[in-house]
Amino acid sequence: MCGIVGYVGHRQALEVVLGGLHRLEYRGYDSAGVALLGGGGAQRVARKAGRIANLEAVLDADGRATFGGTVGIGHTRWATHGPPADRNSHPHVDESGQVAVVHNGIIENFAELRGELEAAGVELTSDTDSETVAHLVARAYASGETAGDLDASVREVCRRLRGAFTLVITHSDVPDRIVAARRSSPLVVGVGDGEHFVASDVAAFIEHTRRAVELGQDQVVVITRDGYEVTDFTGEPASARPFTVDWDLSAAEKGGHDYFMLKEIEEQPDALANTLRGHFAAGRITLDEQRITEQDLRDIDKVFVVACGSAYHSGLVAKYAIEHWCRLPVEVELASEFRYRDPVLDRDTLVVAVSQSGETADTLEAVRHARGQKARVLAVCNTNGAQIPRESDAVLYTHAGPEIGVASTKAFLAQIAANYLVGLALAQERGTKYPDEVAREFAELANTPSAVQKALTTTDQVRDLARRIADAKAVLFLGRHVGYPVALEGALKLKELAYMHAEGFAAGELKHGPIALIEDGLPVVIVMPSPKGRAMLHSKLVSNISEIQARGARTIVIAEEGDDVVRPYADELIEVPAVTTLLQPLVSTVPLQVLAAEIARSRGYDIDKPRNLAKSVTVE
Ligand code: M6R
Repeated sequence: MCGIVGYVGHRQALEVVLGGLHRLEYRGYDSAGVALLGGGGAQRVARKAGRIANLEAVLDADGRATFGGTVGIGHTRWATHGPPADRNSHPHVDESGQVAVVHNGIIENFAELRGELEAAGVELTSDTDSETVAHLVARAYASGETAGDLDASVREVCRRLRGAFTLVITHSDVPDRIVAARRSSPLVVGVGDGEHFVASDVAAFIEHTRRAVELGQDQVVVITRDGYEVTDFTGEPASARPFTVDWDLSAAEKGGHDYFMLKEIEEQPDALANTLRGHFAAGRITLDEQRITEQDLRDIDKVFVVACGSAYHSGLVAKYAIEHWCRLPVEVELASEFRYRDPVLDRDTLVVAVSQSGETADTLEAVRHARGQKARVLAVCNTNGAQIPRESDAVLYTHAGPEIGVASTKAFLAQIAANYLVGLALAQERGTKYPDEVAREFAELANTPSAVQKALTTTDQVRDLARRIADAKAVLFLGRHVGYPVALEGALKLKELAYMHAEGFAAGELKHGPIALIEDGLPVVIVMPSPKGRAMLHSKLVSNISEIQARGARTIVIAEEGDDVVRPYADELIEVPAVTTLLQPLVSTVPLQVLAAEIARSRGYDIDKPRNLAKSVTVE
């Protein structure tokens, strides 16, 4: 949460920083701000509550030319300490205005630090934890062993901070450098010719360079025009991982769509194909990073999937496959609950941590807890080198490409596919599936990009439907077996995008309570299983539909094409291609994504940036 960017080079920093902020706005949009160091060393700060557009209006009113200079930092905020207000917007400055700080994360001991500063007579002007850093750095720079040395001052302050943070800091005394630090929050360096960048995400500088360096835990980097230098918090030289970004600017742009989410929905066939590519060779499933021995994999006697939101739903889907293929018990846990209930973990437990961003705080803490209990952790992640894969024993990357829309779409489908690869890898290692069975399952998976492409042909029909039900008070979603997590996912999409009451239920539970919610005209979306693959479940669901129809529900049925049995029960029938049962979530989720996006659009909402949300949830 919060996007931060810094630039030192030969261009006008304001435009570079604003460009970076626009690409990071998915990380938070409660406020935005910049600090620019002019040639003479004067520091100018502008910040404003609300979207970046509000900040730009301030810059225009003041005259952008007055924010000249080739060194600058910027921030886009997701509020934690203090409401979205101008005074709480970053950058924060010290009393002299010489030090400017942008921060992502939470400084847990900020109350203590704030008390210390107030006792020393410092007047703090915001409610944030971040402002304390500006004052602490200013004081470290002003006197003592670190006097006059910004790099050492930042390191000293970092050693005092508890919690998770990325900090980017400037001082007008040294107008040719930016000092940045990280602990548990992301920070990458962009390496250009005669220019360097720091940012929360490579998207911020991808239009200028694809050469990047990923900082490690508890590291400080100093960037200047000519280079970068990495140390640990004590000042010892430290190594950081250089890499080349394998996507380009076009992947981080809307490509003619009104919203990123609409583009990302359409990219799903590619996201699946890219995720599967290269993971089945010479008759075997392979992961990306494997630091668990084959024997240890064979000894696994229990699996937990831990994740949040959509990633959690992908785990619910995975449970059906892993239990079926591997004959192992699988528990799927909300990462935010996992470590608070003393789960039974040991070295024979495999914990699969699923996260698009790889930086979700709840999931990261679940990973740490699991490893602390000696469990093996396998990460499924869409972000190369993020903290969760770094701290895991094995990694399988989804290759969905950058997902900018806050609502997860292509990453969710890629997670389902990757979780299946994990299941097949386990089955292969444990011998619960013969090699030809593994090959057959993989071949089915490899066909899903074209099935998803076909599912996308329902888009016009679903948009039309969405516009017709956009005024509904609520929408219910029903499913059974793997259709149940799809129902949960459909409801989550509608809640987060359209701000409507939406609930997903296991259809069999309806008669145990939720059927009381049914009233005349209430839209109910039903995710049908295949009439061939799951005949018994299919007929039970048909009965469930007729029960709610009898009570006035407006039934919207997602069914396999050619399912004539359900047709008479559907007020609206959306047909998706036939695939094997376990793969159905990949096709039946697609219309639900379109439905939520279009209802939200009809209601006038920004579907890429739903209220109160941010893409990466780096606070617990
Ligand atoms: O980056 P992660 O996959 O760990 O994120 C998990 C959830 O925050 C995320 O899936 C969230 O629920 C989405 N906004 C749902 O669309």
